[in-house]
Amino acid sequence: MLRLTVAAALVSRALAAPAAASSSSAPVVNTVTVGSTTFTNHGLVGAGSLPSNARDQFGDTIGGIGSAIAFDQSSFTLNADGTYSGVLYTQPDRGWNTEGTVNYKGRIQQFNLTLNPYYGSADQSSADQITLAYDKSILYTGPDGIETTGLDAAEIYTSNDVDYPAAYLPGTDTLALALDLEGLVHDPRDGSFWVSDEYGPYIYHFESDGTFISAIVPPAAYIPVINKKTNFTGTTDPDTGRSANHGFEGLSISSNGTYIYALLQAALVQDGGTHATREEYTRMVQYDISDASSPQLVGEYVVVLPQFEDPDESKNPRTGESSELHFINDHQFLYLPRDSGRGQGQSNSTSIFRNAEIFDISSATNIAGSKYDEAKNPVAKDGDSLESKVTPATGTPFVDYNDNSQLNRVGLHNGGDNDSTDLDEKWESLALVPTSQGSNDYFLFTMSDNDFITQDGYLNGEQYADDSGLNLPTQILAFWVTISDVESGVELVN
Ligand SMILES: *[C@@H]1O[C@H](CO)[C@@H](O)[C@H](O)[C@H]1NC(C)=O
Ligand SMILES: *[C@@H]1O[C@H](CO)[C@@H](O)[C@H](O)[C@H]1NC(C)=O
Ligand SMILES: *[C@@H]1O[C@H](CO)[C@@H](O)[C@H](O)[C@H]1NC(C)=O
Ligand SMILES: *[C@@H]1O[C@H](CO)[C@@H](O)[C@H](O)[C@H]1NC(C)=O
Ligand SMILES: *[C@@H]1O[C@H](CO)[C@@H](O)[C@H](O)[C@H]1NC(C)=O
Repeated sequence: MLRLTVAAALVSRALAAPAAASSSSAPVVNTVTVGSTTFTNHGLVGAGSLPSNARDQFGDTIGGIGSAIAFDQSSFTLNADGTYSGVLYTQPDRGWNTEGTVNYKGRIQQFNLTLNPYYGSADQSSADQITLAYDKSILYTGPDGIETTGLDAAEIYTSNDVDYPAAYLPGTDTLALALDLEGLVHDPRDGSFWVSDEYGPYIYHFESDGTFISAIVPPAAYIPVINKKTNFTGTTDPDTGRSANHGFEGLSISSNGTYIYALLQAALVQDGGTHATREEYTRMVQYDISDASSPQLVGEYVVVLPQFEDPDESKNPRTGESSELHFINDHQFLYLPRDSGRGQGQSNSTSIFRNAEIFDISSATNIAGSKYDEAKNPVAKDGDSLESKVTPATGTPFVDYNDNSQLNRVGLHNGGDNDSTDLDEKWESLALVPTSQGSNDYFLFTMSDNDFITQDGYLNGEQYADDSGLNLPTQILAFWVTISDVESGVELVN
């Protein structure tokens, strides 16, 4: 009774499965089995982009939106003409920050997405199967109704005994909540938003109109401490806690809204988080939010990030830091480890590692509430080796973004010409929507973070041009995947 399927709840307006999706001759790029779940990648069915100089209702450049995406699942519909459409919420991080942080107000950029899926095998000349029509922006407010900022969190604002990352609004003595947002969840129960950040690293809860509700403060082990004092700045690595710019990149919710999960981009400092080659022991927290006003930490797991050899680096192996997390069922998750400094506009146009992977916590040790929640007890001192009592979760590669045989089908490529159809450097988001009722077929959407890099930028009424000289589009991809055991939701309504 409670196991009403996600598909049934989500696509009640869908007409039928796409012919290709229901065909037994469906193309298979690769299949992996993890536990009792089978994951099949049928390849790309679409790509699209948003120009770097697009602007929102406030006149600000629309950028950074691939930092986090979430569908209004109930809006995703198969149209009579074979296209799909739905409301996509996207969330920029802290604004244009390639030359220092700026006073960018945290927000959601809401789009109508349309996918005209391409199932053919011939290479397409343009990446135009997905279109994004900007709809509106939803501004977040901080505690006490104060606007938020993307400026570096060098200060602390205390409200109701909670210390928040903060910065002075320019030219004022007003402390504002400082946000560098990376994770976004649309709560299926009431349409509110849960949001994770890098400064805290905290998980924030906002009303559907952006009004602040509350924050989840993680265990002490996560809080950045410099010289024995909490310090949320992103300019230096702390002595313990999350390392700079390596906060909760990934956030996801169980289908029924009972649990929220947040995954660190890479290890905490005390677990080796400041070494690019030894930061693989990252952590995921799980909170029971069935009573949203009183979240309870119920799970905490070590996840070993994958490592890869980079022939152009002197120290190897490198750690694939993760930019996203997506719930599959109560023990399995998708996450998004990748390289950096490679891709469109970068000094090397060829990425060597970008992979949506699966990890499974079935046999991992739950360390929630243990001594490891104190900063003085690392799970992996300096990242050298994991405490013997702690069994981690490890990943299984699934969808390889850099597969040119797939990218070329939708008008894109990895490496080679340094042009606007080379894949962007930073892929940071995943969203899964069912293609039709009663099947295990899904579209796996993913979007890039372009860091607001444009020569025609606007912020708070001022113009800017990024020093790189680049105009970097936001890119979006849709893979068609079959997953045999996505957990059903119970209350997927808004
Ligand atoms: C988005 O879709 C909604 C609902 O169909 C519609 O009312 C709105 O005008 C659309 N907005 C854009 C920008 O297309
Ligand atoms: C945090 O550290 C930064 C950099 O060292 C410093 O500028 C700032 O004042 C510190 N903030 C607090 C609240 O101590
Ligand atoms: C919600 O899903 C979780 C697993 O993800 C399960 O443990 C829990 O029992 C479910 N809650 C309800 C009310 O069905
Ligand atoms: C790509 O173009 C940008 C901007 O001109 C440049 O900085 C970068 O080095 C180029 N990369 C390659 C691989 O040519
Ligand atoms: C770019 O990276 C690839 C893969 O590591 C390497 O083979 C190639 O030599 C690099 N190109 C440049 C210009 O550094």
